[in-house]
Amino acid sequence: MIRVDLRSDTVSHPSPEMRKAMYEAELGDDVYGDDPTTNLLEERAAEMLGKEAAVIVSSGTQSNLVALLAQAGRGDTVLIGNKSHILNAEAGGASALGGIVLIPLQNDQRGTMDPTEIGLAAAPKDHHKAPVSLLCVENTQNAAGGTALSPEEIKIMADAGRQYGLRVHMDGARLFNAAVALETPAAELTAEADTVGFCLSKGLACPIGSVLCGDADVIEEARRWRKMLGGAMRQVGVIAAAGVVALDTMIDRMADDHANARKLAGALAEMPGIEIDLASVETNIVRFGVPAHKGMEIQGRLKDEGVLINGGDSDLRFVPHYGIDSEDIDIAINAMDKVMAEVAD
Ligand SMILES: Cc1ncc(COP(=O)(O)O)c(C=O)c1O
Repeated sequence: MIRVDLRSDTVSHPSPEMRKAMYEAELGDDVYGDDPTTNLLEERAAEMLGKEAAVIVSSGTQSNLVALLAQAGRGDTVLIGNKSHILNAEAGGASALGGIVLIPLQNDQRGTMDPTEIGLAAAPKDHHKAPVSLLCVENTQNAAGGTALSPEEIKIMADAGRQYGLRVHMDGARLFNAAVALETPAAELTAEADTVGFCLSKGLACPIGSVLCGDADVIEEARRWRKMLGGAMRQVGVIAAAGVVALDTMIDRMADDHANARKLAGALAEMPGIEIDLASVETNIVRFGVPAHKGMEIQGRLKDEGVLINGGDSDLRFVPHYGIDSEDIDIAINAMDKVMAEVAD
């Protein structure tokens, strides 16, 4: 029996308050623009992130895709971190559907990119090169272990691109985790971004959805792409209702997930065979190394203990979320202790 699912915050379920709000949501037809609950969510989201407008989409992947399609044309280049989710885990949508060239730049350990490299990649107005129109940043940076990039770190990257006229898109799938960790209003983290998408269905614990925010004209263009992708939905207030509750009730709560992540990381650091950089555990993602080729075996043995984890051959990831409490973390720690002793034999 599975007792603790720490594969991702995407596995979190909606709160009773969200379910009630979904049941009672006032509905219209969002393709006609008259779904009041969706309009409320979009207004709230735009306001919280200091943007003019917002649009609900089906997923984080779709928010990134419509943001790129709306801001980069066919044959345009988008500069992007080499460890970014958009580049590595979104099925190549921007290239396949938008003819966009994704040029990866090195992400450092925290997930930032070198401004000089951004400038060099953005600079040439040269007819041999695809014109560069957009820079993408990610906050928190999933592959770096959920690091929370500060407004200053983001500004350095954004300024380097803006110097050459680039727009900036932020994949803020876990933006509110960064805001909570840095004790900084989310709008300060998004000030340098022309567009920012955040997920409702991760730490915010909604069942479905993301919201893309930005200037009114870009969001209008994103709506057109969303329609083309088949992502314009009708009584989507059913989903938006959970989002409104999440913005009210789920943000400050993320501090608990971060505390659980630190507790877990601290215990892992004491276990033989585990490599973990405790300083990288800034939010709710705990990434760590295990002996080479042992990753799959550890996942299997943990599953037998009732604990689900995500990862690969030699690196694994736990992600505490809504619904996971400190006792669940104890269960995961005890299971890890047992399994690491077994694999060491
Ligand atoms: C940083 C980041 N961006 C985007 C996404 C995509 O979100 P979705 O799974 O809703 O498409 C994820 C998903 O885990 C993510 O971690």
